[in-house]
Amino acid sequence: MSKLQNEVREVVGNKTHLTEDDLIGMNYLRAVIKETLRLHPPLSIILRMSTEDVNIKGYNIKANTRVRMNVWQIGRDPMSYNKAEEFEPERFLNSRRPIDYKGNDFQLIPFGVGRRGCPGSHFAISAAEIALASLVHKFDWALPDESKPQEFDMTESIHYTNFVIRQRQKTVV
Ligand code: HEM
Repeated sequence: MSKLQNEVREVVGNKTHLTEDDLIGMNYLRAVIKETLRLHPPLSIILRMSTEDVNIKGYNIKANTRVRMNVWQIGRDPMSYNKAEEFEPERFLNSRRPIDYKGNDFQLIPFGVGRRGCPGSHFAISAAEIALASLVHKFDWALPDESKPQEFDMTESIHYTNFVIRQRQKTVV
């Protein structure tokens, strides 16, 4: 949080309110949002239906098969990310090649991919950027009293995400 605050406060300077123009210089902010969507994609499963028999990388998929893409698991794949379970926005600033969620980098697809990809992604990101930047610009966030982060149950409660996690735990590789 302090790293993000430093960036936001430096860019905004003496102004009382930040504007959308200020967001352009906030690279760490963008990395924080990417990292959040990597670990906690609001839509953890993407569905597709095959229209014809197809073979993808050795997998035969019959026509009219419902294919589920596990976005939650893809974002935590250790083949794609070092220390995949850790919240580390710097990974997006230091990667050899820029990774974006526009649908070309398959290791990060919180908005889906292809023609049915989310048409609201630009709006969603702009809204998240201005909201998060404003929150850390104006406030120093802290836990009440002497509470520690470990004392809070941060388990995600969205049913579908929990379903995916349970499926993952049951999977025997
Ligand atoms: C963080 C916010 C959001 C996330 C993570 C998100 C994610 C997604 C995902 C994963 C899909 C399915 C894509 C696919 O099947 O490949 C989707 C579809 C869709 N999203 Fe979003 N979305 C967000 C915000 C929005 C907003 C703000 C709007 C509208 C203003 C929107 C409108 C839609 C629509 C209409 C579809 C259906 C597209 C279709 O089926 O052709 N989404 N979204």
